[in-house]
Amino acid sequence: MPVSQPIEPLRIPRHVAIIMDGNGRWAKQRSKPRLYGHKVGVDSVQTIVESASELGVEVLTLYAFSTENWKRPADEVGGLMGLLKTYLQRELSRMLKNRIRLTCIGDIEKLPKDVRDVLQKTITDTAENDKLTLNLALSYGGRAELIRAIRTIATEVSAGDINTDDIDENLIDNHLYTAGLPEPDLLIRTGGEARLSNFLLWQASYAEIYFTDVMWPEFREQAFADAIAEYQGRERRFGRTSAQIKSG
Ligand code: FPP
Repeated sequence: MPVSQPIEPLRIPRHVAIIMDGNGRWAKQRSKPRLYGHKVGVDSVQTIVESASELGVEVLTLYAFSTENWKRPADEVGGLMGLLKTYLQRELSRMLKNRIRLTCIGDIEKLPKDVRDVLQKTITDTAENDKLTLNLALSYGGRAELIRAIRTIATEVSAGDINTDDIDENLIDNHLYTAGLPEPDLLIRTGGEARLSNFLLWQASYAEIYFTDVMWPEFREQAFADAIAEYQGRERRFGRTSAQIKSG
C-alpha cells in the first residue's frame, strides 16, 4: 500500500473512473441510516472533483447510480435522486468558476423529470467549459449500453447505411454513451469489493484497476493521491512485452 508517495505531474491519468462503493456499510458501522452514508459520500464527490481538476485529470467518470440500483428500496432511490438534484443545483456556480463541464452516461429517461431537468440544464450551462469533464453514470449499465449500441448498429446495417465490414472498435466506440471521451486509464473501486459491477465493460479493457478498502465517504484527497501514485508505478503494456514498452 503506497503511503504518501509523491505524484508525478506528467503521468496523470487522462480519464479516471470510480465505483463509489461503501456508503451504506460506512453508515451502518456508525448506526446511521444508509442515506447518511450517501450524504457524506456527496462531500467525497465534491472533494474528488476538485482534486482531479487540480491534478489535471481530463475526465472523471463517477458511477452514481446503476441500472440495478432501481431495485433498492424506494426511499433510498428517492433519497439518492434528491441528493443528486441538490448537488447539481448547489455546484453549478462552482462548476462555472472552475471550468468544469458536466456530461452523463446512462438511460437518463428513467430519472424523475425534476432531476432530469436540472441535469439537462447543468449540462447545457457547462457545455463550453474546458477543464475537467465530470461525467456522471446515472441509470447506467455496461450491458444495457452495449445492447443499445448493437441495436443502433444493426439498424444502420439493415438500412444499408453501413456494411458489416465497417463494424470495428472505432465504430463501436462511437455508438457508446462515452463516444468522444478517452477510455479510462485508471478505474478505482472503493469499499473493499473487487468486481466491475457492470461498469464501463467495453471501455475499461485496458484500464488499470485499483481496489481499496477505504469506504467512499472517507475517500478524500490522500486516498485519491495514493491511487494515482499506484497507477504511476504500474507498467501499461497493452498486450506487449515489457522490453517492447521500454524500447518505445
Ligand atoms: C454505493 O454504495 C453507492 C451508490 C449506489 C450511490 C453513490 C452516490 C453518491 C455518492 C451520492 C450521489 C452522487 C452524486 C454524484 C452527487 P452502497 O450504498 O452500495 O454501499 P454498500 O455497498 O456499503 O451498501
